[in-house]
Amino acid sequence: MRILGIETSCDETAAAVVEDGRKLISNVVSSSEAIHAKVGGVIPETAAREQLKYMLPVIEETTKDTTYDAIAVTQGPGLIGSLLIGVETAKALAYTKNLPLIPVNHLVGHIYANWLLPDEPKLPGIVLIASGAHSDIVLMTGHGKFEYLGGTRDDAAGEAFDKAARLLGLPYPGGPAIDREAKSGTPGKIKLPRPLQNDQSYDLSFSGLKTALRQIVEREKPAVADTAAEVQEAITDVLVEKTIRAAREKKVDSILLGGGVVANQRLREKLRQAWSGNFYVPEVKLSTDNAAMIASAAFYSNRPVNPLEVQADSSLSLENL
Ligand code: KG4
Ligand code: ZN
Repeated sequence: MRILGIETSCDETAAAVVEDGRKLISNVVSSSEAIHAKVGGVIPETAAREQLKYMLPVIEETTKDTTYDAIAVTQGPGLIGSLLIGVETAKALAYTKNLPLIPVNHLVGHIYANWLLPDEPKLPGIVLIASGAHSDIVLMTGHGKFEYLGGTRDDAAGEAFDKAARLLGLPYPGGPAIDREAKSGTPGKIKLPRPLQNDQSYDLSFSGLKTALRQIVEREKPAVADTAAEVQEAITDVLVEKTIRAAREKKVDSILLGGGVVANQRLREKLRQAWSGNFYVPEVKLSTDNAAMIASAAFYSNRPVNPLEVQADSSLSLENL
């Protein structure tokens, strides 16, 4: 079965066709990132206007050499104006073509980017989802079976990267910019906190890190590369510690990663070193927002609904699936 996935939760307009949940047939991501880079962040109104322009051309490009049997769409979480473009387009397409429509939680989508790897993930496993707006640790025991263990109490990991980059005068999006800068810097020259690292819960908190960084930058004006390296080290130390502890405590053999932040090279490297069990991480272009992961998640969730009843929901989470 081939599923057309549609994803418009933030600043990207994406479509993809995936066969049987695992085989990528086509994948198109158009991003208005360059426009947002000029102002240092996503302006929801601008994002939605760009998505309206690109939605149909992106779907046409994705499906020019393939047919599809069902449609999947990101229902939330995300920016409501952006989500609406994808959801309403998907509803109209499903209705007029008389095809099943499957709504997908964007965060579950990030998890299913791992099913596009050559090796199918072995479950149960601990999943770390770290994106621009969410950081969650969940236990996955089967398809659609998640136990929420913990997540951020304030800023998400990606938000921490983005805000730190801004303080350092680096461009948006901040994660890739810090990843790049950090390569020529040395962590530890300045010292940032590792919030909740030794706390026994699976909660995460990154807003204190940003405050500490602001004070150091104003007071000491440290070198950008060294500061970027320490920011990256601090955020990834906490993510690694909590993920590994969850895997040990829940006695699972697998760790899976998802979300834009797991594109971070240092995070991948540190987890790989710290964990000798099965380790799954999507390739970089499927870690950040894309529609292939939505089509894959839809295949496994297999819950077609009446297209006209699907509503965009900006506040969906992993906590109460
Ligand atoms: O999953 P995603 O593409 O969009 C959301 O669902 O939010 O994640 C975007 C986030 C941004 O905060 C971006 O700075 C971060 O992922 N990111 C990275 C890297 N690439 C993207 N963070 C750290 N290192 C990277 N290489
Ligand atoms: Zn995302």
